[in-house]
Amino acid sequence: MKPELYSRYHEVYDRFSSVKLFPIFITFCQKVHQNASRNTTAITDVGAGTGLFTSLLAGQFSGAKISLIEPSEYMMPYARARLSESKIDFYESSLEQTLMQIQTQDIFIFQRSLYALSGDIGYYKRLANQLSEKISENGLVGIFEIGQLYDIPIMREYFQSNRKVLRLSENEFEKQWLIFEQALKDFNHGAESGDYMLFNKDNLNEIFSHKFSLIDGDNRNIFIYRKKTG
Ligand SMILES: C[S@@+](CC[C@H](N)C(=O)[O-])C[C@H]1O[C@@H](n2cnc3c(N)ncnc32)[C@H](O)[C@@H]1O
Repeated sequence: MKPELYSRYHEVYDRFSSVKLFPIFITFCQKVHQNASRNTTAITDVGAGTGLFTSLLAGQFSGAKISLIEPSEYMMPYARARLSESKIDFYESSLEQTLMQIQTQDIFIFQRSLYALSGDIGYYKRLANQLSEKISENGLVGIFEIGQLYDIPIMREYFQSNRKVLRLSENEFEKQWLIFEQALKDFNHGAESGDYMLFNKDNLNEIFSHKFSLIDGDNRNIFIYRKKTG
């Protein structure tokens, strides 16, 4: 976690994470729901940021208790404002600090957060073991990752051509883009320097296949693992 990254990024985060521009977030939520047990009562959204995906989960799983883990003091206020306090347990701390405190979960979600935890595959293998101990029989781990470096000029073109969807004037776009661009550069730099990890089907299977089976996904961004029985 790099707290300073979010000290500016939080100002533009929701605008640039628009589900209108990225309907794949809704597809991810639907796939988690399709694969979940009907008796799902406990879900944890790890690195939930401003609570964008948590709010989609709360809509799909209206009977479940959702725990939201987010260590950034900059992101958490948006999540608290977006979500009803009564249905969500908020943990303003890292996954590492929180995992011991939470009860068994039916689903763990990592939407664009797994990459940020470490650059070390050994860390992720230990995490997969810890998750399997914290997850119910047939429970799920849902992962959404980017999997490659951002092509920043292409991203800029995409967002600029959708400026009206983002409801930004040319001038506002230019100002907000500079903040967003820093976050894209941080991602690319972190992945290249080994602080972050880029995921694909192969390294995710290396990490999870000991305790989990890959059951659904698009093999690019979305990966859904189910805990093996026995
Ligand atoms: C790119 S944001 C994704 C936010 C949200 N899941 C979404 O898709 O909109 C990555 C989030 O992971 C959080 N994060 C970083 N390190 C973490 C850690 N060790 N434990 C939990 N969350 C972490 C960051 O604070 C940040 O909010």
